[in-house]
Amino acid sequence: MGRAFVYVILGGGVAAGYAAQEFVKRGVSHGELCIISEEPVAPYERPALSKGFLLPEGSNEERLTPKWYKEHGIELILGTRVKSADVRRKTLLTVTGETISYKILIVATGARALKLEEFGVTGSDAENVCYLRDLADATRLVSVMQSCKDGNAVVIGGGYIGMECAASLVINKINVTMVFPEAHCMGRLFSPKIASYYEEFYKSKGVKFIKGTVLTSFDLNSDGKVTAVSLRDGSKLPADMVVIGIGIRANTSLFEGQLTLEKGGIKVNGKMQSSNTSVYAVGDVAAFPVKMFAETRRLEHVDSARKSARHAVAAIMEPEKTGEFDYLPFFYSRVFTLSWQFYGDNAGEVIHFGDFSGKTFGAYWINKGHLVGSFLEGGTKEQYEGIAKATRLKPAIEDLGELERQGLGFALTA
Ligand code: FDA
Ligand code: NAD
Repeated sequence: MGRAFVYVILGGGVAAGYAAQEFVKRGVSHGELCIISEEPVAPYERPALSKGFLLPEGSNEERLTPKWYKEHGIELILGTRVKSADVRRKTLLTVTGETISYKILIVATGARALKLEEFGVTGSDAENVCYLRDLADATRLVSVMQSCKDGNAVVIGGGYIGMECAASLVINKINVTMVFPEAHCMGRLFSPKIASYYEEFYKSKGVKFIKGTVLTSFDLNSDGKVTAVSLRDGSKLPADMVVIGIGIRANTSLFEGQLTLEKGGIKVNGKMQSSNTSVYAVGDVAAFPVKMFAETRRLEHVDSARKSARHAVAAIMEPEKTGEFDYLPFFYSRVFTLSWQFYGDNAGEVIHFGDFSGKTFGAYWINKGHLVGSFLEGGTKEQYEGIAKATRLKPAIEDLGELERQGLGFALTA
């Protein structure tokens, strides 16, 4: 059995939702577009899963409903994993045995959470060990959390998931110890000085940090529940639950040997088109040219998923009118009462500014004589817009001392 569509979006996450919206805006006809997703629900805003969704008051993020897709004649094939792809024949084969053919395919398969087993530790399947990538994970995490009130959680990993989940766990009155191998949290982005601010803030909320070590094994009780976590430094932490956030891998496996891969993703050009002209890739799975850095990058953030998806659809539906994707990388996070934004690239030398004992502070990254990245905590809308604009301009910086003296003012007058 089989069905045929003009456009197929493979994956039903953030990028798929924004691509669908763009298709509708540009006038896709009923029956032309289909989205195939392993998840049983329509595309949703994934970032909410580590924020509002975990908080006692819950999340009220807006999303497009299945009704919206129906009204626009978009076929949603949910709860259905694609198990193989043939880009030469332009077909996808689902686990249900259906062959779906396309004229144009948009790969939006996102990424999967890395498992402890990939680092030689067993026990990921214990009932109180949680990962966080999709709605099912988040629903499970909430239920484990609710059964652990006043208990101990060990959070493995000091990246985005670790930091955001640790904050949510504390708000849910759980004692949290974070364990990660680096010298400071958010090692991929933060300078030691920025990291230290957040670590102190977390400590003031009761979070403990054990840095420079990794977990080696779990103690399990007769029900198969983790009761303690053993670390490489020899220590043992009692645990009523464990949350793991140790990074992701892009879901490229369907296309290995068929499309060119780079930086762990599907390599695309400035129109988000892969090495096969009928296949586009967007979101976490795409490695695309970031014009302002003259480099191919794979970004794992929601803004890039949204914008790359829209750009791909524009390039597909109006190729003549659509230029090269010219993207300014943008990352953000919100935890407790804190909120930061980052634009550009955290390469080169860091210049800090503002009041690190107060509410508003930040940093610039200067690489090869140009400002290439800006970070701001506690800014206003105008200030965030200011650092975004200044970073996009990549201004030449001759005097680092002067930049430091001007601080945020530099971006606001650039
Ligand atoms: P995404 O992962 O959203 O979707 C991929 C979809 O493809 C899934 O539905 C999956 O099931 C499906 N799929 C994969 N393989 C398939 C197959 N073979 N067959 C069928 N379906 C398949 N970013 C940020 O900038 N700010 C933030 O605050 C956050 N917060 C945040 C919280 C949490 C908990 C997570 C996990 C992630 C974030 N992110 C974030 C990152 C952001 O959510 C991420 O960059 C986007 O979701 C990427 O969108 P994609 O559509 O590329 O993948
Ligand atoms: P990450 O890459 O941000 O952090 C991974 C962390 O894992 C590292 O900081 C390190 O401390 C730790 N680690 C690595 N190997 C380890 C090991 N063997 N043992 C223990 N710790 C180890 O990844 P993440 O936090 O898992 O986040 C997953 C994805 O979700 C990322 O793509 C991220 O961008 C996305 N996300 C983004 C946001 C946001 O942008 N605000 C929020 C949540 C999730």
